[in-house]
Amino acid sequence: MDRIRIHGGRALNGTIPISGAKNAALPLMIASLLTEEKLILDNVPRLADVGLLQYILGNHGVDIMVSGKRAGDEENAGQTLELSAKNIVDTTAPYHLVSKMRASFWVIGPLLARTGEAKVSLPGGCAIGTRPVDFHLDVLRSLGGEIEISEGYVIAKAKKGLRGAKISFPKVSVGATHAALLTASLAKGEAVIENAAREPEIKDVADCLTAMGAKVEGAGTSTIRIQGRDKLNGARHAVLPDRIETGTYAMAVAMTGGDVMLAGAREELLVAALDTLRGTGTKVTVTNEGLRVSRNGAGIVPVDVTTEPFPGFPTDLQAQFMALMSRAKGTSRIRETIFENRFMHVQELARLGANISLDGETAIVQGVEKLKGAPVMATDLRASVSLVIGGLAAEGETTVHRVYHLDRGFERLEQKLARCGASIERVSG
Ligand code: UD1
Repeated sequence: MDRIRIHGGRALNGTIPISGAKNAALPLMIASLLTEEKLILDNVPRLADVGLLQYILGNHGVDIMVSGKRAGDEENAGQTLELSAKNIVDTTAPYHLVSKMRASFWVIGPLLARTGEAKVSLPGGCAIGTRPVDFHLDVLRSLGGEIEISEGYVIAKAKKGLRGAKISFPKVSVGATHAALLTASLAKGEAVIENAAREPEIKDVADCLTAMGAKVEGAGTSTIRIQGRDKLNGARHAVLPDRIETGTYAMAVAMTGGDVMLAGAREELLVAALDTLRGTGTKVTVTNEGLRVSRNGAGIVPVDVTTEPFPGFPTDLQAQFMALMSRAKGTSRIRETIFENRFMHVQELARLGANISLDGETAIVQGVEKLKGAPVMATDLRASVSLVIGGLAAEGETTVHRVYHLDRGFERLEQKLARCGASIERVSG
Protein backbone atom coordinates (compact mmCIF):
# COMPACT_ATOMS: atom_id res chain seq x y z
CA MET A 1 0.00 0.00 0.00
CA ASP A 2 1.24 3.49 -0.86
CA ARG A 3 2.49 5.85 1.83
CA ILE A 4 3.23 9.55 1.81
CA ARG A 5 6.54 10.68 3.25
CA ILE A 6 6.97 14.27 4.37
CA HIS A 7 9.95 16.16 5.73
CA GLY A 8 8.31 19.02 7.58
CA GLY A 9 9.32 22.59 8.29
CA ARG A 10 9.24 24.21 4.86
CA ALA A 11 7.05 27.18 4.00
CA LEU A 12 4.75 26.87 0.97
CA ASN A 13 5.22 29.36 -1.86
CA GLY A 14 3.80 29.29 -5.38
CA THR A 15 0.53 28.42 -7.10
CA ILE A 16 -1.84 25.53 -6.46
CA PRO A 17 -4.54 24.93 -9.08
CA ILE A 18 -7.88 24.03 -7.50
CA SER A 19 -9.65 21.05 -9.06
CA GLY A 20 -13.35 20.52 -9.71
CA ALA A 21 -15.39 19.61 -6.64
CA LYS A 22 -15.69 15.91 -5.88
CA ASN A 23 -18.97 16.45 -4.06
CA ALA A 24 -20.52 18.03 -7.14
CA ALA A 25 -18.89 15.75 -9.72
CA LEU A 26 -20.40 12.62 -8.17
CA PRO A 27 -24.09 13.67 -8.23
CA LEU A 28 -23.55 15.31 -11.65
CA MET A 29 -22.27 12.02 -13.04
CA ILE A 30 -25.29 10.27 -11.52
CA ALA A 31 -27.55 12.80 -13.30
CA SER A 32 -26.51 11.10 -16.55
CA LEU A 33 -28.85 8.22 -15.64
CA LEU A 34 -31.81 10.59 -16.07
CA THR A 35 -31.49 11.02 -19.84
CA GLU A 36 -31.03 8.97 -23.00
CA GLU A 37 -28.97 11.82 -24.37
CA LYS A 38 -25.35 12.69 -23.77
CA LEU A 39 -24.32 14.60 -20.64
CA ILE A 40 -20.92 16.25 -20.98
CA LEU A 41 -19.16 17.26 -17.78
CA ASP A 42 -16.05 19.45 -17.83
CA ASN A 43 -13.57 20.09 -15.03
CA VAL A 44 -14.13 16.67 -13.45
CA PRO A 45 -11.37 15.90 -10.92
CA ARG A 46 -9.21 12.80 -11.32
CA LEU A 47 -10.03 10.96 -8.15
CA ALA A 48 -10.48 7.37 -7.05
CA ASP A 49 -14.14 8.10 -6.18
CA VAL A 50 -14.78 9.44 -9.69
CA GLY A 51 -13.17 6.33 -11.19
CA LEU A 52 -15.26 4.06 -9.00
CA LEU A 53 -18.47 5.84 -9.96
CA GLN A 54 -17.53 5.55 -13.65
CA TYR A 55 -17.29 1.83 -13.09
CA ILE A 56 -20.63 1.65 -11.23
CA LEU A 57 -22.42 3.70 -13.90
CA GLY A 58 -20.80 1.52 -16.57
CA ASN A 59 -22.48 -1.50 -14.95
CA HIS A 60 -25.85 0.19 -15.35
CA GLY A 61 -25.14 0.70 -19.05
CA VAL A 62 -23.73 4.22 -19.14
CA ASP A 63 -21.12 4.65 -21.90
CA ILE A 64 -18.39 6.98 -20.73
CA MET A 65 -15.76 8.70 -22.85
CA VAL A 66 -12.95 10.42 -21.03
CA SER A 67 -10.89 13.20 -22.55
CA GLY A 68 -8.64 15.96 -21.28
CA LYS A 69 -5.15 15.80 -19.89
CA ARG A 70 -4.12 12.73 -17.97
CA ALA A 71 -2.84 12.56 -14.43
CA GLY A 72 0.80 13.61 -14.39
CA ASP A 73 0.51 15.87 -17.43
CA GLU A 74 1.76 19.40 -17.09
CA GLU A 75 -1.55 21.13 -17.63
CA ASN A 76 -4.00 21.19 -14.80
CA ALA A 77 -7.35 21.40 -16.53
CA GLY A 78 -9.73 18.73 -15.26
CA GLN A 79 -10.95 15.89 -17.39
CA THR A 80 -14.07 15.93 -19.54
CA LEU A 81 -16.51 13.03 -19.21
CA GLU A 82 -19.10 12.31 -21.88
CA LEU A 83 -21.74 10.12 -20.30
CA SER A 84 -24.40 8.47 -22.38
CA ALA A 85 -27.11 6.38 -20.69
CA LYS A 86 -29.03 5.50 -23.85
CA ASN A 87 -30.01 2.12 -22.48
CA ILE A 88 -30.08 1.16 -18.82
CA VAL A 89 -29.02 -2.48 -18.93
CA ASP A 90 -28.92 -3.30 -15.21
CA THR A 91 -30.77 -1.65 -12.33
CA THR A 92 -28.83 -3.38 -9.55
CA ALA A 93 -25.87 -1.75 -7.74
CA PRO A 94 -24.10 -4.52 -5.83
CA TYR A 95 -22.64 -4.47 -2.33
CA HIS A 96 -19.00 -4.82 -3.36
CA LEU A 97 -19.23 -1.50 -5.25
CA VAL A 98 -21.64 0.58 -3.16
CA SER A 99 -19.84 -0.36 0.06
CA LYS A 100 -16.69 1.41 -1.18
CA MET A 101 -18.33 4.80 -1.58
CA ARG A 102 -21.43 6.04 0.15
CA ALA A 103 -22.46 8.47 -2.59
CA SER A 104 -22.91 5.60 -5.06
CA PHE A 105 -26.14 4.79 -3.17
CA TRP A 106 -27.53 7.96 -4.75
CA VAL A 107 -28.04 6.10 -8.08
CA ILE A 108 -31.19 4.58 -6.61
CA GLY A 109 -33.52 7.55 -7.23
CA PRO A 110 -32.49 8.24 -10.84
CA LEU A 111 -32.64 4.51 -11.70
CA LEU A 112 -36.12 4.29 -10.16
CA ALA A 113 -37.33 7.42 -11.93
CA ARG A 114 -35.99 6.32 -15.30
CA THR A 115 -36.88 2.60 -15.28
CA GLY A 116 -39.44 2.09 -12.50
CA GLU A 117 -37.16 -0.20 -10.52
CA ALA A 118 -33.82 -0.27 -8.71
CA LYS A 119 -32.00 -2.60 -6.35
CA VAL A 120 -29.12 -0.94 -4.54
CA SER A 121 -27.00 -2.22 -1.68
CA LEU A 122 -27.04 -0.27 1.56
CA PRO A 123 -23.90 1.90 1.52
CA GLY A 124 -20.55 1.98 3.29
CA GLY A 125 -18.09 4.86 2.80
CA CYS A 126 -16.00 6.80 5.33
CA ALA A 127 -16.25 5.49 8.89
CA ILE A 128 -17.40 8.81 10.36
CA GLY A 129 -20.55 7.89 12.22
CA THR A 130 -23.59 5.77 11.53
CA ARG A 131 -24.66 7.75 8.43
CA PRO A 132 -28.11 6.22 7.89
CA VAL A 133 -30.14 6.47 4.64
CA ASP A 134 -33.59 6.94 6.19
CA PHE A 135 -34.06 10.39 4.58
CA HIS A 136 -33.17 8.94 1.18
CA LEU A 137 -35.80 6.23 1.55
CA ASP A 138 -38.35 8.85 2.68
CA VAL A 139 -37.62 10.80 -0.53
CA LEU A 140 -38.34 7.77 -2.68
CA ARG A 141 -41.52 6.92 -0.73
CA SER A 142 -42.78 10.52 -0.89
CA LEU A 143 -42.37 10.53 -4.65
CA GLY A 144 -44.39 7.32 -4.97
CA GLY A 145 -41.76 4.57 -4.74
CA GLU A 146 -42.47 1.29 -2.96
CA ILE A 147 -39.52 0.31 -0.82
CA GLU A 148 -38.51 -3.02 0.60
CA ILE A 149 -35.28 -3.86 2.39
CA SER A 150 -34.02 -7.37 1.98
CA GLU A 151 -30.62 -8.99 2.63
CA GLY A 152 -28.77 -5.68 2.78
CA TYR A 153 -30.40 -4.30 -0.37
CA VAL A 154 -32.97 -1.60 -0.89
CA ILE A 155 -35.44 -2.74 -3.54
CA ALA A 156 -37.45 0.13 -4.98
CA LYS A 157 -40.34 -0.06 -7.43
CA ALA A 158 -42.56 2.54 -9.08
CA LYS A 159 -44.74 0.74 -11.60
CA LYS A 160 -46.89 3.80 -12.28
CA GLY A 161 -43.98 6.22 -12.32
CA LEU A 162 -43.06 8.86 -9.74
CA ARG A 163 -44.98 12.04 -8.84
CA GLY A 164 -43.81 15.32 -7.35
CA ALA A 165 -44.63 15.81 -3.66
CA LYS A 166 -43.69 17.89 -0.66
CA ILE A 167 -40.52 16.60 1.00
CA SER A 168 -39.60 18.09 4.35
CA PHE A 169 -36.34 16.98 5.95
CA PRO A 170 -36.10 16.80 9.75
CA LYS A 171 -32.38 17.65 9.50
CA VAL A 172 -30.29 19.16 6.72
CA SER A 173 -28.77 16.44 4.54
CA VAL A 174 -26.64 17.11 1.49
CA GLY A 175 -27.05 13.62 0.06
CA ALA A 176 -30.80 13.44 0.61
CA THR A 177 -31.24 16.89 -0.99
CA HIS A 178 -29.28 15.70 -4.04
CA ALA A 179 -31.41 12.56 -4.11
CA ALA A 180 -34.65 14.55 -3.99
CA LEU A 181 -33.46 17.01 -6.62
CA LEU A 182 -32.26 14.36 -9.08
CA THR A 183 -35.25 12.07 -8.65
CA ALA A 184 -37.94 14.78 -8.70
CA SER A 185 -36.54 16.13 -11.99
CA LEU A 186 -37.89 13.02 -13.71
CA ALA A 187 -41.13 12.76 -11.69
CA LYS A 188 -44.52 14.11 -12.84
CA GLY A 189 -45.56 17.54 -11.56
CA GLU A 190 -44.10 19.74 -8.89
CA ALA A 191 -41.94 18.68 -5.94
CA VAL A 192 -41.06 21.01 -3.07
CA ILE A 193 -38.06 20.31 -0.84
CA GLU A 194 -38.16 22.00 2.55
CA ASN A 195 -35.17 22.31 4.88
CA ALA A 196 -32.99 21.58 1.84
CA ALA A 197 -29.20 21.68 2.09
CA ARG A 198 -27.81 24.99 0.76
CA GLU A 199 -24.34 23.74 -0.18
CA PRO A 200 -22.94 25.22 -3.43
CA GLU A 201 -22.77 21.70 -4.88
CA ILE A 202 -26.59 21.51 -4.67
CA LYS A 203 -26.85 24.68 -6.75
CA ASP A 204 -24.31 23.29 -9.23
CA VAL A 205 -26.38 20.13 -9.72
CA ALA A 206 -29.57 22.20 -9.99
CA ASP A 207 -27.96 24.32 -12.72
CA CYS A 208 -27.08 21.18 -14.65
CA LEU A 209 -30.61 19.75 -14.24
CA THR A 210 -32.00 23.06 -15.49
CA ALA A 211 -29.77 22.80 -18.56
CA MET A 212 -31.16 19.27 -18.99
CA GLY A 213 -34.71 20.67 -19.13
CA ALA A 214 -36.01 20.46 -15.55
CA LYS A 215 -37.34 23.62 -13.94
CA VAL A 216 -35.62 24.18 -10.60
CA GLU A 217 -36.18 27.23 -8.40
CA GLY A 218 -34.58 28.11 -5.09
CA ALA A 219 -31.49 25.88 -5.19
CA GLY A 220 -29.02 27.37 -2.72
CA THR A 221 -31.88 28.30 -0.34
CA SER A 222 -33.73 26.01 2.06
CA THR A 223 -36.79 25.65 -0.16
CA ILE A 224 -36.37 24.17 -3.62
CA ARG A 225 -39.19 23.76 -6.17
CA ILE A 226 -38.78 21.34 -9.04
CA GLN A 227 -41.04 20.90 -12.04
CA GLY A 228 -40.25 17.42 -13.23
CA ARG A 229 -40.24 16.38 -16.87
CA ASP A 230 -41.22 13.13 -18.64
CA LYS A 231 -37.88 13.23 -20.38
CA LEU A 232 -34.72 15.19 -19.82
CA ASN A 233 -32.26 16.19 -22.53
CA GLY A 234 -28.49 16.13 -22.72
CA ALA A 235 -26.40 19.13 -21.65
CA ARG A 236 -22.86 20.37 -21.10
CA HIS A 237 -21.81 21.56 -17.65
CA ALA A 238 -18.54 22.48 -15.91
CA VAL A 239 -18.06 21.31 -12.31
CA LEU A 240 -17.53 24.17 -9.83
CA PRO A 241 -14.19 24.47 -7.96
CA ASP A 242 -13.67 22.34 -4.86
CA ARG A 243 -14.17 24.48 -1.75
CA ILE A 244 -12.88 21.75 0.55
CA GLU A 245 -9.66 21.38 -1.42
CA THR A 246 -9.39 25.20 -1.37
CA GLY A 247 -9.83 25.36 2.40
CA THR A 248 -7.42 22.49 2.93
CA TYR A 249 -4.55 24.17 1.08
CA ALA A 250 -5.38 27.51 2.69
CA MET A 251 -4.97 25.83 6.08
CA ALA A 252 -1.75 24.18 4.96
CA VAL A 253 -0.33 27.62 4.12
CA ALA A 254 -1.58 29.00 7.43
CA MET A 255 0.23 26.13 9.11
CA THR A 256 3.60 26.36 7.34
CA GLY A 257 3.70 30.05 6.55
CA GLY A 258 4.42 31.27 3.03
CA ASP A 259 2.42 32.76 0.19
CA VAL A 260 0.31 30.69 -2.20
CA MET A 261 -2.15 31.50 -4.98
CA LEU A 262 -5.05 29.05 -4.98
CA ALA A 263 -5.83 29.39 -8.67
CA GLY A 264 -9.50 29.13 -9.62
CA ALA A 265 -10.70 29.21 -5.99
CA ARG A 266 -13.83 31.24 -5.28
CA GLU A 267 -14.33 33.12 -2.02
CA GLU A 268 -18.13 32.87 -1.93
CA LEU A 269 -17.89 29.07 -1.70
CA LEU A 270 -16.21 29.14 1.72
CA VAL A 271 -16.77 32.48 3.42
CA ALA A 272 -17.13 31.02 6.94
CA ALA A 273 -13.91 29.01 6.70
CA LEU A 274 -11.95 31.95 5.26
CA ASP A 275 -13.24 34.30 7.98
CA THR A 276 -12.12 31.76 10.59
CA LEU A 277 -8.75 31.52 8.92
CA ARG A 278 -8.38 35.29 8.86
CA GLY A 279 -9.04 35.19 12.60
CA THR A 280 -5.99 32.97 13.03
CA GLY A 281 -3.78 35.70 11.58
CA THR A 282 -3.70 34.38 8.02
CA LYS A 283 -4.05 36.83 5.17
CA VAL A 284 -6.56 35.92 2.45
CA THR A 285 -7.06 38.20 -0.54
CA VAL A 286 -9.34 37.82 -3.52
CA THR A 287 -7.71 38.28 -6.94
CA ASN A 288 -8.76 37.69 -10.53
CA GLU A 289 -6.77 34.48 -10.55
CA GLY A 290 -8.19 33.04 -7.33
CA LEU A 291 -7.49 33.37 -3.62
CA ARG A 292 -4.09 34.40 -2.34
CA VAL A 293 -3.27 33.03 1.08
CA SER A 294 -0.25 34.04 3.13
CA ARG A 295 1.07 34.05 6.65
CA ASN A 296 4.29 35.57 7.85
CA GLY A 297 6.27 34.46 10.91
CA ALA A 298 3.68 35.66 13.45
CA GLY A 299 2.12 33.02 15.71
CA ILE A 300 -1.17 31.30 14.91
CA VAL A 301 -4.06 32.85 16.86
CA PRO A 302 -6.45 30.26 18.37
CA VAL A 303 -10.07 30.46 17.15
CA ASP A 304 -13.10 28.39 18.26
CA VAL A 305 -15.27 26.80 15.57
CA THR A 306 -18.49 24.82 15.34
CA THR A 307 -19.24 22.79 12.23
CA GLU A 308 -22.57 23.56 10.60
CA PRO A 309 -24.38 22.98 7.32
CA PHE A 310 -23.56 25.56 4.62
CA PRO A 311 -23.06 28.52 4.94
CA GLY A 312 -21.46 27.57 8.28
CA PHE A 313 -18.00 26.15 8.85
CA PRO A 314 -17.90 22.80 6.96
CA THR A 315 -17.41 19.50 8.75
CA ASP A 316 -15.14 18.50 5.84
CA LEU A 317 -12.59 21.11 7.03
CA GLN A 318 -12.81 20.30 10.74
CA ALA A 319 -9.86 17.87 10.86
CA GLN A 320 -7.62 20.20 8.84
CA PHE A 321 -8.48 23.13 11.11
CA MET A 322 -7.71 21.01 14.15
CA ALA A 323 -4.25 20.29 12.75
CA LEU A 324 -3.73 24.05 12.38
CA MET A 325 -5.00 24.77 15.90
CA SER A 326 -2.61 22.17 17.30
CA ARG A 327 0.14 24.76 16.81
CA ALA A 328 -1.82 27.85 17.85
CA LYS A 329 -0.63 30.11 20.62
CA GLY A 330 -3.29 29.07 23.11
CA THR A 331 -6.42 26.94 23.42
CA SER A 332 -9.24 26.50 20.93
CA ARG A 333 -12.47 24.52 21.07
CA ILE A 334 -13.69 22.69 17.98
CA ARG A 335 -17.25 21.44 18.06
CA GLU A 336 -18.47 18.84 15.55
CA THR A 337 -22.24 18.88 15.12
CA ILE A 338 -22.73 17.05 11.80
CA PHE A 339 -21.18 13.61 12.36
CA GLU A 340 -20.90 12.02 15.79
CA ASN A 341 -17.71 10.06 15.23
CA ARG A 342 -15.56 12.48 13.32
CA PHE A 343 -12.62 12.75 15.69
CA MET A 344 -10.55 9.76 14.63
CA HIS A 345 -7.73 12.06 13.56
CA VAL A 346 -7.30 13.19 17.16
CA GLN A 347 -5.23 10.22 18.26
CA GLU A 348 -3.13 10.35 15.09
CA LEU A 349 -2.45 14.09 15.50
CA ALA A 350 -1.43 13.24 19.08
CA ARG A 351 1.27 10.97 17.61
CA LEU A 352 2.75 14.13 16.07
CA GLY A 353 2.74 15.76 19.51
CA ALA A 354 -0.61 17.59 19.40
CA ASN A 355 -2.34 18.14 22.73
CA ILE A 356 -6.05 17.49 22.18
CA SER A 357 -8.70 16.24 24.58
CA LEU A 358 -12.28 15.30 23.81
CA ASP A 359 -15.38 16.32 25.69
CA GLY A 360 -18.43 14.87 23.91
CA GLU A 361 -18.80 16.62 20.57
CA THR A 362 -16.06 19.16 21.41
CA ALA A 363 -12.31 18.84 20.98
CA ILE A 364 -10.20 21.08 23.18
CA VAL A 365 -6.95 21.85 21.43
CA GLN A 366 -4.10 23.21 23.47
CA GLY A 367 -1.58 24.57 20.98
CA VAL A 368 1.97 23.31 21.24
CA GLU A 369 5.14 25.03 20.05
CA LYS A 370 6.38 22.16 17.95
CA LEU A 371 5.04 19.04 16.28
CA LYS A 372 7.41 16.14 15.69
CA GLY A 373 7.30 13.78 12.71
CA ALA A 374 5.99 10.22 13.26
CA PRO A 375 4.33 7.38 11.37
CA VAL A 376 0.56 7.99 11.30
CA MET A 377 -2.48 6.24 9.87
CA ALA A 378 -5.12 7.85 7.66
CA THR A 379 -8.58 6.86 8.91
CA ASP A 380 -10.89 8.69 6.54
CA LEU A 381 -10.73 11.08 3.65
CA ARG A 382 -10.56 14.46 5.39
CA ALA A 383 -8.76 13.14 8.48
CA SER A 384 -5.97 11.84 6.28
CA VAL A 385 -5.22 15.28 4.87
CA SER A 386 -5.13 16.76 8.37
CA LEU A 387 -2.19 14.45 9.02
CA VAL A 388 -0.47 15.75 5.90
CA ILE A 389 -0.96 19.31 7.18
CA GLY A 390 0.46 18.25 10.54
CA GLY A 391 3.41 16.59 8.82
CA LEU A 392 4.18 19.69 6.74
CA ALA A 393 4.80 21.63 9.95
CA ALA A 394 6.34 18.86 12.05
CA GLU A 395 10.06 18.59 12.62
CA GLY A 396 11.59 15.58 10.90
CA GLU A 397 9.88 12.80 8.95
CA THR A 398 6.19 11.95 8.93
CA THR A 399 4.87 8.92 7.06
CA VAL A 400 1.14 8.81 6.38
CA HIS A 401 -0.10 5.26 5.84
CA ARG A 402 -3.30 4.15 4.07
CA VAL A 403 -3.20 7.01 1.59
CA TYR A 404 -5.95 5.43 -0.50
CA HIS A 405 -8.23 7.58 1.67
CA LEU A 406 -6.47 10.67 0.31
CA ASP A 407 -6.73 9.49 -3.28
CA ARG A 408 -10.50 9.35 -2.92
CA GLY A 409 -10.71 13.11 -2.60
CA PHE A 410 -7.48 14.99 -3.37
CA GLU A 411 -6.14 15.16 -6.90
CA ARG A 412 -2.33 15.02 -7.20
CA LEU A 413 -1.90 16.23 -3.64
CA GLU A 414 1.81 15.52 -3.33
CA GLN A 415 2.54 17.11 -6.71
CA LYS A 416 0.58 20.27 -5.88
CA LEU A 417 2.36 20.65 -2.53
CA ALA A 418 5.81 19.71 -3.82
CA ARG A 419 5.57 22.41 -6.49
CA CYS A 420 5.17 24.94 -3.69
CA GLY A 421 8.32 23.79 -1.97
CA ALA A 422 7.09 21.03 0.35
CA SER A 423 9.29 18.00 0.78
CA ILE A 424 6.64 15.36 0.14
CA GLU A 425 6.69 12.15 -1.89
CA ARG A 426 4.64 9.06 -2.47
CA VAL A 427 6.31 5.79 -1.64
CA SER A 428 4.75 2.85 -3.48
CA GLY A 429 4.24 -0.64 -2.13
C1 UD1 B 1 -22.09 14.92 2.20
C2 UD1 B 1 -20.69 15.03 1.66
C3 UD1 B 1 -19.67 14.90 2.79
C4 UD1 B 1 -19.98 15.92 3.89
C5 UD1 B 1 -21.43 15.85 4.31
C6 UD1 B 1 -21.84 16.95 5.27
C7 UD1 B 1 -20.79 14.19 -0.59
C8 UD1 B 1 -20.42 13.14 -1.57
N1 UD1 B 1 -20.47 13.99 0.67
O1 UD1 B 1 -22.23 13.63 2.79
O2 UD1 B 1 -18.38 15.15 2.25
O3 UD1 B 1 -19.17 15.64 5.02
O4 UD1 B 1 -22.30 15.94 3.17
O5 UD1 B 1 -21.56 18.19 4.73
O6 UD1 B 1 -21.32 15.22 -0.96
N2 UD1 B 1 -28.44 11.71 7.88
C9 UD1 B 1 -29.47 10.96 8.39
N3 UD1 B 1 -30.23 10.22 7.51
C10 UD1 B 1 -30.00 10.22 6.17
C11 UD1 B 1 -28.94 11.01 5.66
C12 UD1 B 1 -28.18 11.75 6.55
O7 UD1 B 1 -29.71 10.93 9.60
O8 UD1 B 1 -30.73 9.53 5.43
C13 UD1 B 1 -27.59 12.52 8.82
C14 UD1 B 1 -26.12 12.06 8.82
O9 UD1 B 1 -25.92 10.97 9.68
C15 UD1 B 1 -25.43 13.32 9.30
C16 UD1 B 1 -26.29 14.45 8.69
O10 UD1 B 1 -27.53 13.85 8.35
O11 UD1 B 1 -25.48 13.42 10.69
C17 UD1 B 1 -25.69 15.10 7.47
O12 UD1 B 1 -25.29 14.11 6.55
P1 UD1 B 1 -25.37 14.36 4.98
O13 UD1 B 1 -25.43 15.82 4.73
O14 UD1 B 1 -26.47 13.52 4.42
O15 UD1 B 1 -23.98 13.78 4.49
P2 UD1 B 1 -23.67 13.06 3.10
O16 UD1 B 1 -24.61 13.54 2.07
O17 UD1 B 1 -23.52 11.62 3.32
